[in-house]
Amino acid sequence: ASTLAQYAEAKGRYFGSATDNPELTDAPYVAILTGGEFDQLTPGNSMKWDTTEPTQGQFSYTKGDAVVTLAQQHNMSIRGHNLVWHNQLPGWVSSLPTGQVQAAMENHITNEATHYKGKVFAWDVVNEPFNDDGTYRTDVFYNAMGVGYIADALRTAHAADPGAKLYINDYNIEGSGAKADAMYSLVSSLKSQGVPIDGVGIQGHLATQYGFPGNMQQNLQRFADLGLDVAITELDVRMPLPETAAQDATQATYYTNVVKACLAVSRCVGITIWDYTDKYSWVPSTFPGQGAPLPWDANLAKKPLYDTIVAALGGP
Ligand code: G3I
Repeated sequence: ASTLAQYAEAKGRYFGSATDNPELTDAPYVAILTGGEFDQLTPGNSMKWDTTEPTQGQFSYTKGDAVVTLAQQHNMSIRGHNLVWHNQLPGWVSSLPTGQVQAAMENHITNEATHYKGKVFAWDVVNEPFNDDGTYRTDVFYNAMGVGYIADALRTAHAADPGAKLYINDYNIEGSGAKADAMYSLVSSLKSQGVPIDGVGIQGHLATQYGFPGNMQQNLQRFADLGLDVAITELDVRMPLPETAAQDATQATYYTNVVKACLAVSRCVGITIWDYTDKYSWVPSTFPGQGAPLPWDANLAKKPLYDTIVAALGGP
């Protein structure tokens, strides 16, 4: 073995990267993305509602299809991301009368999941349903349908693509805490009602200036013990800039801890980093003054962090 994907596959996992359409014109970037380091891709933006149904009833899959085609050409699987989310939602959804939200949500899910049937192995059906204190986000879906929107979204996705693994995906649920407890309580309830749910997506957007999430392995294991898969879906570890040796060391520890937690839980099916190079990370624009979150630098050179991840995966 000599790539992240190969080391992960030796442990029965995938190792993937997010990517986005504007980056696909960068040939050196694409060469690494498709050169064997990754066996799974997640479109970072192009399957979201604002891209796929910008106007009610008018669907556009060109950008998502481009990522799917690239993945297929290089034997990489695709996680579909995402069907229902409060963010990157076109204005027409937010301004619908309450009584029309459910039908619009079901129509969106049915159309998109049908389009990608057989092309994605998993869907983030509902993304980020919780606030950090574990209460539900009072977004347009919750306001119209209450918490029942989540079961309805999962059932609708299952009807459209019975073969896809259906996930709920969120951040700040890596370790134990109120938000992870809320997710645990939600998915326990869904399982006991027979709602089609297959997994919990643990995003993994970490930062060196905060402590590492507590009890990560045990937290993954409790979801697994419900009969659910778990996946690390959006891993990156940002730091306050400038990059220092001390921050790099903390970052290396955090990546190692996440990889080892996943490998220790048999139902943790794989790890996806939220793009592979600092050149295209979402971090600097969202958190000014922070960055350097990924194993390849902005010049597309591997950092020492790459070898850290290999070692955590059981490589040399
Ligand atoms: O498409 C417009 C473009 O037309 C416009 O000119 C440009 C000007 O700012 O903005 C473009 O939209 C940007 C979009 O990415 C596409 O590039 C948005 O401003 C920008 O906010 C958006 O950021 C994305 C972010 O989700 C939005 O919430 C990031 O690329 C994407 O990596 C990030 O991914 C999320 C996951 O979906 C869910 N979990 C958290 C993760 C990180 O925020």
